[in-house]
Amino acid sequence: MTRDLPRYHAAVWDEPVVLELGRPGRRGFLAPEPEPDVRADVDALLPPGVRREAPPALPELSEFEVQRHYLHLAQMTLGMMGINLFGTCTMKYNPRVNERVTARPELAEVHPGQPEETLQGVLEVVHRFERILRELSGMERFVFQPGGGADAAYTHACITRAYHASRGELERRTEVITTIQTHPCSAATAAAAGFDVITLPLGPDGYPTLESLKAAVSDRTAALMVGNPDDMGIYNPEIKQWVEAVHEAGGLCFYDHANFNGVMTRIRARELGFDACMYMLHKTFAGPKGGGGPAVGAYGCAEHLVPFLPRPLVEERDGRYGLDHDGPQSIGRVREYWGNVPVVVKAYSWVRALGAEGLRQAADLSVIANNYMETRLLEIPGVTKSHPQIAAHRLEMTRYSLEQVTEETGIDVHDIQNRMVDYGVDAPWLAHEPWLIPQPITPEPGELWSKEDIDTWIDVLAAVVQEAHDDPERVRTAPHNQAIHQVDASGVDDPDQWATTWRAHLRKRAAA
Ligand SMILES: Cc1ncc(COP(=O)(O)O)c(C=O)c1O
Repeated sequence: MTRDLPRYHAAVWDEPVVLELGRPGRRGFLAPEPEPDVRADVDALLPPGVRREAPPALPELSEFEVQRHYLHLAQMTLGMMGINLFGTCTMKYNPRVNERVTARPELAEVHPGQPEETLQGVLEVVHRFERILRELSGMERFVFQPGGGADAAYTHACITRAYHASRGELERRTEVITTIQTHPCSAATAAAAGFDVITLPLGPDGYPTLESLKAAVSDRTAALMVGNPDDMGIYNPEIKQWVEAVHEAGGLCFYDHANFNGVMTRIRARELGFDACMYMLHKTFAGPKGGGGPAVGAYGCAEHLVPFLPRPLVEERDGRYGLDHDGPQSIGRVREYWGNVPVVVKAYSWVRALGAEGLRQAADLSVIANNYMETRLLEIPGVTKSHPQIAAHRLEMTRYSLEQVTEETGIDVHDIQNRMVDYGVDAPWLAHEPWLIPQPITPEPGELWSKEDIDTWIDVLAAVVQEAHDDPERVRTAPHNQAIHQVDASGVDDPDQWATTWRAHLRKRAAA
């Protein structure tokens, strides 16, 4: 049943960037003068060569102006609260309580370089969370240094090198096997670590055949790096045989567990035979997004790979916690200190709030929600799903194709994306490269959204598909109700136009 669609129009402010606001001398906060002892310490510790000659060119604003500026910006976005069903790796709501927990001074005001005796609380949380992941995966140890999923894949690629080098086999083991539907970070990081990459194509069941894997495996195989279920929600039921085939040839097996949500508490990577795995704390575990830097790709491995892990490891002895830096075979750090510890604390807080039962319910709910959504989405004329011949239910997401809609109306998924946001819902995420399925979308409801929200999102898509037939121009020229309309992205590829800092922008503008 189609209900009333949300009525929405974003606020439109002609808002300058913050660096263009304010006036010299305006203040929101006056920092007190440092005490003489502190001043003397700073003078002694900071060599003259690194001291600024002039204050930084920061905008000078009152507190009120700062608040107003960010309120205006917030009013012009959906703020990830417009019902976002971003598929391919579970973008979740970040509960506010987790922000409160990490803002506590015991965490926010400590530094990882402090003496360990003064870091007992935070070390305990990191250690406890590691034990939770060990339970969920069956792995022996975890590290939280990688700043995202791709960083964790890179950690594995480096550990693969170190492991085979330690056995005198690195020169021979030059190949990493992956699949076309595994996230490209596996292939990319294997190549970055110096391996040749073999990418297996899909078979008729939506995953590569076991025969194709066996044909690729040889004594040159260094590792298999694979995601399961893949970004189409298809689970490879032969995965144990895959792992066995790679192990028989002496290779390692790495499990990209970014799509863990639907199988949480139901399968353990180690029990499937994997040597190592990766979880996204910024996705499955409800931490804030931001791959590749401000996030955490938790990397776990079995006993035989522990010597190669980045150090330090957090150890517990008689109720006290410490950092073990001793790792002569370690690959070294993949980032500073122990990684983004606040994200670890948020993930810990989320897991403790749910408990073991709650995690299982979340997994089951995410699968039920997806299958409910699949039933309704396939009722929309022109919406089909990938590999319809597969009888098994998809897990936490399903890949659909809007190819028929495009053929009948000329409207493609980007147009539909632009039009959906006019109804105040977040449009589907389209990072589905390579587009094996034409005009793909992969909404993923997870466990969070209510049935009404899921229904609203589906109703919006149905309405936009109908509009594509009735008034294609309205869809092609969308968005109409957003603060800005279609963005001209051509400058993104032009180094004369883009600038990554305000100073670079001013320099380029002056030169132009
Ligand atoms: C299945 C899968 N693996 C790995 C990644 C890479 O993770 P990150 O963006 O945190 O580097 C993603 C991200 O989209 C993903 O979907």
